[in-house]
Amino acid sequence: MEAKKVSDSMVEMRELILPNDTNLLGNLLGGRLLHWMDIAGAMAASRHSQSIVATAAIDSVDFKQPVHVGEMIVLKAKLTWVGRTSMEVLVEACSENYLTGETKFTNRAYFIFVSLDENGKPRPVPKLILETDEERREYQEALKRREERLKRRQITSSCSQCEKK
Ligand SMILES: CC(C)(COP(=O)(O)OP(=O)(O)OC[C@H]1O[C@@H](n2cnc3c(N)ncnc32)[C@H](O)[C@@H]1OP(=O)(O)O)[C@@H](O)C(=O)NCCC(=O)NCCS
Repeated sequence: MEAKKVSDSMVEMRELILPNDTNLLGNLLGGRLLHWMDIAGAMAASRHSQSIVATAAIDSVDFKQPVHVGEMIVLKAKLTWVGRTSMEVLVEACSENYLTGETKFTNRAYFIFVSLDENGKPRPVPKLILETDEERREYQEALKRREERLKRRQITSSCSQCEKK
């Protein structure tokens, strides 16, 4: 498998916030934003791996600013790290008021996607070519985030309600 650059799989996606996307105050629902972030991230991961991907983990998300009905949300997704079958993708969201041109940073989160073969089993992904200092810094920081996630994965591998692993 040929290694790919971060820029080869970057995704930019826009959505117009309609009334059905908002709460009673006319602000974008958090769940809807997470859904779009998941889609943008999955598209970047699928472009890199040229495969179907599953979301394995999402790091904590803070909602910094409300996004209002009638505004646009701009989502940018890029790979920050790849393992054997998994990929970390940074997704950033900004809102844009197209009438005034004002933009506001809304939130960012790291997603882990796993590349799947035709039987739904994890399959290897291409290596990532790092070209800029920022990409190299992100990659180093991703290694620490991965350690934390793998610890968390071990701790949360059973359910007290269904008593199943
Ligand atoms: C994600 C999934 C395919 C992993 O399958 P698995 O049989 O557990 O596979 P593995 O243990 O070999 O893990 C595969 C890779 O994912 C990584 N991974 C899996 N779960 C992870 C987690 N919670 N956090 C970080 N990495 C994770 C592993 O470290 C491994 O990475 P590597 O190959 O780069 O080293 C499987 O758990 C699954 O199908 N989960 C449900 C996905 C889903 O439905 N998502 C939608 C939201 S509900």
